[in-house]
Amino acid sequence: MLKIAVLASGSGSNAQSLVEHFADSPWGRVEIIVTNNANAGVIERADRLNISTLIFDPKTESDAVLKRLDEEIDIILLAGYLKMIPAAWTRCFQGRMLNIHPALLPKFGGKGMYGKHVHQAVSEAGESETGITIHMVNEQYDEGAIIAQFKTEIEPGEDAKSIEEKVRALELEYYGPVVEAWIENLSLSQ
Ligand code: GRF
Repeated sequence: MLKIAVLASGSGSNAQSLVEHFADSPWGRVEIIVTNNANAGVIERADRLNISTLIFDPKTESDAVLKRLDEEIDIILLAGYLKMIPAAWTRCFQGRMLNIHPALLPKFGGKGMYGKHVHQAVSEAGESETGITIHMVNEQYDEGAIIAQFKTEIEPGEDAKSIEEKVRALELEYYGPVVEAWIENLSLSQ
């Protein structure tokens, strides 16, 4: 059974769906939720779900937190974590760190493309579809190998808020199952 850390900076709906999904899984368990934001909604969710949290300052505590995660954790899942992941982290957890991006990469990825900015850009570009991308994390923003993508259609004139709701539904449905299948493959091939 692999030990999972979830990194989140915001409301934590994806973090919660991961905790709930893995509560019944034979392949992994969310052990800890790590956040850089002491006011993040994810902390309250973690308390309700009985998952321990670690609040840290990436400027001063990055090395210490990485050391702890390396000792205690097998896999890191990013779920709305808004800080840059340092190279030491991607090196240490190479092949063991995944992210969910709320668009169909390589479109609408890269610097500044997070949260509402993504949906706003998709809406302004007049796209006919959008979706989610679950991918490996490497040192470049949003450029690691893609594990899975799921799409949803956009009606003409749909605004960013409505697009966000559709994308959120895909995130909550698929992040847990996709990661679980990925862990299963990983475990079976070792
Ligand atoms: C999600 O859209 C996720 O894809 C992204 O940031 C958002 C986080 O939302 N990268 P929440 O904190 O999980 O509610």
